Amino acid sequence: MSNTPTPTGFSHEKVETNNFLMIVLILLVVAVGGLVEIVPLFFQKSTTEAVQGVKPYTALQLAGRDIYLREGCYNCHSQMIRPFRAETLRYGHYSVAGEFVYDHPFQWGSKRTGPDLHRVGGRYSDEWHRVHLNNPRDVVPESNMPAYPWLERNKLDPSELPTKMRALRRVGVPYSDAEIAEAPAAVKGKTEMDALIAYLQGMGLSLK
Ligand code: HEC
Repeated sequence: MSNTPTPTGFSHEKVETNNFLMIVLILLVVAVGGLVEIVPLFFQKSTTEAVQGVKPYTALQLAGRDIYLREGCYNCHSQMIRPFRAETLRYGHYSVAGEFVYDHPFQWGSKRTGPDLHRVGGRYSDEWHRVHLNNPRDVVPESNMPAYPWLERNKLDPSELPTKMRALRRVGVPYSDAEIAEAPAAVKGKTEMDALIAYLQGMGLSLK
């Protein structure tokens, strides 16, 4: 490499022999490169607008989604079908960004002890899910999924929902005042099991 200074007095050798300068410049290059890739996604229609048919979660589904998070279902199940033949043959249409615009936070994941769940909606009956969640071995004898028998016994707390829905509205989920006001009545008397099943049955239907 030549160390003849350029007309501005800048020498490449100066960068290559100065650790601090090298680190700062590398960070700058990586940061700019990253921003060029990431920033346009925030303004791109296909990543920020819901695909046709995707609706915000109903009050019951939203409560179910919280149970899903609480129970750590994401530790074994992803919600992200990749665009490969083996995946689409098994699970259906690959996942697209516009299906997750109302998910805060999304549950894509990568850990698959169990199958991907993104298109599980409508694949089984509610009753199948009930039996399966109470004891997976009753329907899939070789299953190593844990049983969740308490979901059937625990009633939902309706008073929490309006606050959650208002928080989601702040980040762009279009809940109306009426929907928020009706939420407690919509989940009254329902169990955690009902809510989780409603969530699972609504999953991934828009591109089925
Ligand atoms: C320790 C890992 C593990 C955890 C945690 C777990 N699962 Fe599973 N799950 C599995 C495995 C393995 C299977 C495949 C065997 C079966 O169907 O039981 C499965 C299957 C399923 C299926 C059927 C999917 C299909 O396409 O056949 C559903 C639905 C499901 N799990 C939902 C849940 C929910 C909801 C939770 C949280 C309450 C959960 N799982 C937690 C491992 C797990």
